[in-house]
Amino acid sequence: MRKDHLLTLLLGVSISALLIIIFFIFLFRRKESSTEQEQYDVESLDHTKHAFSSKTEELLVTFQGGEDLTICDILDAPGEVIGKSSYGTLYKASLQRSGKVRVLRFLRPVCTVRCDAKEFNDVIQTLGFVRHENLVPLLGFYGGNRGEKLMVHPFFSSGNLSDFIKSGGDESIKWSNILSITTGISKALDHLHTGTQKPIVHGNLKSKNILLNSSFEPRISDYGLHLLLNQTAGQEILDVSAAEGYKAPELVNMKEVCKESDVYSLGVIMLELVSGKEAILDHKLYRPEILTSNDDLREERVLKYFQLAMSCCSPSPSLRPNMKQVLSKLQDIYSSRR
Ligand SMILES: *[C@@H]1O[C@H](CO)[C@@H](O)[C@H](O)[C@H]1NC(C)=O
Ligand SMILES: *[C@@H]1O[C@H](CO)[C@@H](O)[C@H](O)[C@H]1NC(C)=O
Ligand SMILES: *[C@@H]1O[C@H](CO)[C@@H](O)[C@H](O)[C@H]1NC(C)=O
Repeated sequence: MRKDHLLTLLLGVSISALLIIIFFIFLFRRKESSTEQEQYDVESLDHTKHAFSSKTEELLVTFQGGEDLTICDILDAPGEVIGKSSYGTLYKASLQRSGKVRVLRFLRPVCTVRCDAKEFNDVIQTLGFVRHENLVPLLGFYGGNRGEKLMVHPFFSSGNLSDFIKSGGDESIKWSNILSITTGISKALDHLHTGTQKPIVHGNLKSKNILLNSSFEPRISDYGLHLLLNQTAGQEILDVSAAEGYKAPELVNMKEVCKESDVYSLGVIMLELVSGKEAILDHKLYRPEILTSNDDLREERVLKYFQLAMSCCSPSPSLRPNMKQVLSKLQDIYSSRR
């Protein structure tokens, strides 16, 4: 009798254990299939409404070069802060699964426009499809259910143009570097202005937003961010840009940024390159070292460059050249032998 009891008890316990295991397997399966659902939502992003109305309201969009990103990758990556601004924080993070190093740009929820807007999705798509050797690409975009937004970019272990100019080193006064950096930036701007399906205005062009690799090729970052930020946050960017001297004089609201205001900022960067920035304060038009340290460089060429920079900075937007005209002038300066 006792043995029978023990047997039933054992049987009872094992059956309950089995049931519990089955329950967990079932739960796990469900979770898995809901992840599949998420991926499905992401892939079918052109059905915008569908993607944004998913229950979790969590969203990952990936673009060329970011296909292997997962939400866990992004959220679990140990990161180190490499930049901070009023609207967000920039992290250098290493993804644990792939070991890849990425830059995560976190945008503060209060500063951004709301994520469920179709317009917002269009902007992400527009920015995500931009590919140019002189632009920092967007590999992925994550939108969390509390309105947090993360943009994923590659990490470039390079310095920025601002530091390069300030360093005043030998490379920074080489005429060939000045011309090729200007050309790279101009090509990137031309691509944003005319080479994409929808023209993109950079909106915050400055030397700190331009990375240089070890062969001094520039890569522009931060383009189009103004499209994701609310009016107050956009205005703060504009105020900083004004304080740093990059803002075109006619601009009052961030909403008014346009190709011509980008061209103005380019002109200021050209002046920075040729003057070494601090030099402007010393009332020198350009650094005399540029002439003395570059053999065969005639002053006319530097003056032509200077004129081009000044025409970009014309107070009247309609008198500023467009990016194609800038590139063609640069080509003239390149090829003129004397
Ligand atoms: C926009 O962003 C600012 C932060 O820059 C925030 O304080 C403000 O509440 C936001 N305004 C709106 C209308 O969402
Ligand atoms: C620098 O960037 C250019 C253009 O993106 C690229 O062709 C070149 O290989 C890069 N150089 C180095 C040393 O990374
Ligand atoms: C780029 O510019 C900022 C602002 O001047 C500076 O703090 C930073 O150290 C620079 N260098 C890099 C590699 O980002």
